[in-house]
Amino acid sequence: MCGIIGITSTKPVTQRIVDGLKRLEYRGYDSAGVATLESGHINTRRSAGKIANLQSVVDAHPLHGHIGIGHIRWATHGAPTENNAHPISNGKLSIVHNGIIENFAQLREQLTAKGHVFHSQTDTESIVHLITDHLDHGSSPKEALHKALNQLEGAFAIGVLFEGHDLLLGARRGSPLVIGVGEEEMFLGSDALGLAPYTDRLIYLEEGDWVILKSNSYQIYDHNAAPITRPIVHIPTDNFQIAKDGFAHFMLKEIHEQPSVIGQSLSNVLDPCSRLPSFEGLNFPQVNAFDTINIVACGTSHYAAMVAKYWLEGLAHLRVNVDMASEFRYRKPTLISNDICLFISQSGETADTLAALKHAKAHGQFCIALVNVATSSMAREADAVILTDAGVEVGVASTKAFTCQLIVLATLSLALSLQTKASSPEQVTVHVEALTHVPTLMGQLLTQTETYSQIARKWLMGAKDILYIGRGTLFPMALEGALKLKELSYIHAEGFPAGELKHGPIALIDQDLPVIVLAPHDHLFDKTLSNAFEVLARGARVILLTDTIGAKKITQINDHIIVITLIETTDLTAPLLYALPLQLLAYYTALHKGTDVDQPRNLAKSVTVE
Ligand code: AGP
Repeated sequence: MCGIIGITSTKPVTQRIVDGLKRLEYRGYDSAGVATLESGHINTRRSAGKIANLQSVVDAHPLHGHIGIGHIRWATHGAPTENNAHPISNGKLSIVHNGIIENFAQLREQLTAKGHVFHSQTDTESIVHLITDHLDHGSSPKEALHKALNQLEGAFAIGVLFEGHDLLLGARRGSPLVIGVGEEEMFLGSDALGLAPYTDRLIYLEEGDWVILKSNSYQIYDHNAAPITRPIVHIPTDNFQIAKDGFAHFMLKEIHEQPSVIGQSLSNVLDPCSRLPSFEGLNFPQVNAFDTINIVACGTSHYAAMVAKYWLEGLAHLRVNVDMASEFRYRKPTLISNDICLFISQSGETADTLAALKHAKAHGQFCIALVNVATSSMAREADAVILTDAGVEVGVASTKAFTCQLIVLATLSLALSLQTKASSPEQVTVHVEALTHVPTLMGQLLTQTETYSQIARKWLMGAKDILYIGRGTLFPMALEGALKLKELSYIHAEGFPAGELKHGPIALIDQDLPVIVLAPHDHLFDKTLSNAFEVLARGARVILLTDTIGAKKITQINDHIIVITLIETTDLTAPLLYALPLQLLAYYTALHKGTDVDQPRNLAKSVTVE
């Protein structure tokens, strides 16, 4: 989840590298650095902390040169200190690296025994000395890099400068790396977002590819060092606009973008004439009611998968397994050939989910990627792609991408219910009609942000623990609400099925402990309300999210319960609409606590390491 920028040009590169890193800061922000070649010599500037610290260092000690590499780090090996910041240099070469070198310890031991002296705690430094060792034995930079690549195990995307050589080299295995084609300059990036201000002509390197870049040429090689070509794709740079547009944080902007992007994502999957969900272009295999769909994802995307399980089973009568990607392939799942595997990921780069996709594909599954980035590794690896149309999501906490996943999964469930004949077109039309009102209803909810700010300030920001409970599709929403809150405010929060409380978690209930209860007035409302009263009776502070019908049934009102009356919902619209209060409670709790809303500690937007 680190970020890489490299430039070889006929013009100075330092500031453009730093600016590119600023656009990638959401990928990781423990430390940063830049190195350039000036008259054949490598000079490096690094800093711990945010990219602003590196900017200060570069301002105070300018770097010159027309070839350079930069890196913004999310620490995997070695504390987030200046000494462990990339680029890692040793006087002969300088490297920036995304990923994890799994055999770094053996390499370090072997190279130390050969007299190499290590100065950092990073796995990356093993690459530096491995390449150096080949240089010391007479290899050229190109030969040394290729030999070293064949000795590395694990996932990496790297950028390399060599002392005395006006070259910029890059390589990828398991971590994305893209080339940007400019006018008398070439770029290297861990994703297109960082290069968007400089070029809209991109080349996506594939697994095992490596490249030598000069300001006016490039050559890509495969893992056997055979020259290969990859297509240049044109990506409109307005796809990568990242600006807060007057909002205090990217997350708040992205919360408020939901009505529009939900509407867009929905219209993308509705047939314009019949207004029925249509995934014609997906070449979706024919499914029958007894087929199985395996859904695999991480984090918030996993909770979208859990919600989809209720819909696909309830509406389309399909069998659905849901797995956390980090567990999927290690549990040795029984994968029947031609079953369908659906991989959900905002970034399309999450290493666990990507590895699960490759595992499923190798076992004959029809793999579909539901992603928010059309050019992502998962999109390129899958047999079919469904795009959420959320636009760039910069806030580390996923919001609009999540609700776009939900709206697409809801319409996919409806489309499959038609295919399995579990629903009639008339029944599906009623559901679609409800979904088309969601953007307007979201807009109404977003006029009540002050309510959530006050609750956050009064009841949540000082809490030590916070519980979330719900039933049916509101159970995964309880998990999502807890994740939002904990990842933004650093307060411990947990989600439970409301029916599970009495089997242990109710022991956690303490005086004034906040419990957020998700209770739309559906067939499970009465049971969920009972659970709310059970915790209320034990001193908890209950924040109960319901609707006007539900609110009328709440008789016990005292100073330990707040009822938030939302809009009536259906089984399909409830998760979409209850997502917003959960996002707002988390956002305002973090805001009042003063944590870093867009870049919470220890996190990164795209987890490209396992
Ligand atoms: C969500 O708020 C978190 N940032 C995190 O759980 C995220 O959903 C997870 O890392 C999966 O990311 P992906 O959707 O890009 O695969």
